[in-house]
Amino acid sequence: MSRTTLPIFMITALLVGEDFAEAQQKTANYDESKIPRYTLPELLKTQVGKTISTAEAWANTRRPELLALFEQHVFGKTPTAATWGKVDFKVTQVKNDALNGKATRKFIHISLPEHPTWQGMEVMLYIPNGLSQPAPCFVGPSFGGNHAVSTEKDVPLSTRWMRASKEKGVVDSRATEDSRANEASRWPLEMIIAQGCAVATYYYGDIEPDHTDGWKEGLRAVLSKDGAAAEWKDGQWGAIGAWAWGLSRIADYLETDADVNAKHLAVIGHSRLGKTSLWAGAQDQRFGVVISNNSGEGGAAIMRRNIGETTAIITKAFPHWFTKTYTSYSNNDAACPIDHHMLIALAAPRAIYIASAVEDTWADPKGEFLSGLHAEPAYTLFGKKGYGISEQPAIDSPVGDSIAYHVRTGKHDVTSYDWEQYLKFAKKHLK
Ligand code: GCU
Repeated sequence: MSRTTLPIFMITALLVGEDFAEAQQKTANYDESKIPRYTLPELLKTQVGKTISTAEAWANTRRPELLALFEQHVFGKTPTAATWGKVDFKVTQVKNDALNGKATRKFIHISLPEHPTWQGMEVMLYIPNGLSQPAPCFVGPSFGGNHAVSTEKDVPLSTRWMRASKEKGVVDSRATEDSRANEASRWPLEMIIAQGCAVATYYYGDIEPDHTDGWKEGLRAVLSKDGAAAEWKDGQWGAIGAWAWGLSRIADYLETDADVNAKHLAVIGHSRLGKTSLWAGAQDQRFGVVISNNSGEGGAAIMRRNIGETTAIITKAFPHWFTKTYTSYSNNDAACPIDHHMLIALAAPRAIYIASAVEDTWADPKGEFLSGLHAEPAYTLFGKKGYGISEQPAIDSPVGDSIAYHVRTGKHDVTSYDWEQYLKFAKKHLK
């Protein structure tokens, strides 16, 4: 039988990775009435059944417990500093008249001198010119590299592996001149700078190429004592953990840069990189604001809802994003001791913004809303307020205080509408 005569379900069975996820988008459940009944694990009850009723008990007992549960069951454990050792920062270029004189652009090479086989990461930092004080800073990874984020033609092209994409000018898994600025609409640098905020970004592929075997060429293999021969065990970190690690190393650098206020950092990410920013924000409390843009399954969406992308789909398409154990919850979400409202609550009492797009049904906008709603009891312990409503708001009507949410018109993307809300939110909460 030729491949073209195979029934559709058999063709789907042959697909892997991004293609598998894309095929599933067409056949997934998008009907609320078909979501099986589920019960969320209790946010304020510990594993031994103790009720958490104070901010202190949250901080000392429940938060560490939940972090450990997310390590064990979802993202894997981030190695400790003793594993990676010293971190080196080298400012390789400073351009004082970037963005028509409105900003200073710096490139910083971050490396691990004790692990020279890792090529390091290239950070691009834009700081507004003419400020009388250090700038608050957004920190986020990009899908396409610094040259894709910036419209400035003198940004070096990344030489690392890139996901195949004709539209993005990727040839033989490498960026070309045609790849420039392909992500610029998601990073409105002029708008951010005009609001007095800095932006630091790096290419997520600097840490690890985003495919099932990518870890063999990335930081996870470098830091493992068995190198690329390592067999990934339950509880060990996945790619999202490694990409999140990169965000914390940028925070380390920013603490050394007098032009930036490292006490005023907002971590941001879109889609798989939104899952990454949530996990970075959960672990690293230096991020005073955490932003999830359309992070969906494995990010802000409630996993038990089984609408749009499911645990079964994501762990089959992208097993490398998570720790191995997460795959065991495929079609078995109820057995998982956490759900993703707890990931949101791990940001408490820091400010968190969850954004959906109405056409992004794959990411389950309602499930993204609900995780913020069900995270609220953790914020209440600190006297902080959440959404202030319990039903998903109308399109393009942001709600909330320390937990905020909007569902905007349009598709899975980051738009200037999203950024307008994030800028207002960050300026309100980073004080
Ligand atoms: C796929 C995947 C999502 C992910 C998205 C992205 O659609 O299924 O979980 O968020 O890719 O990162 O673009």
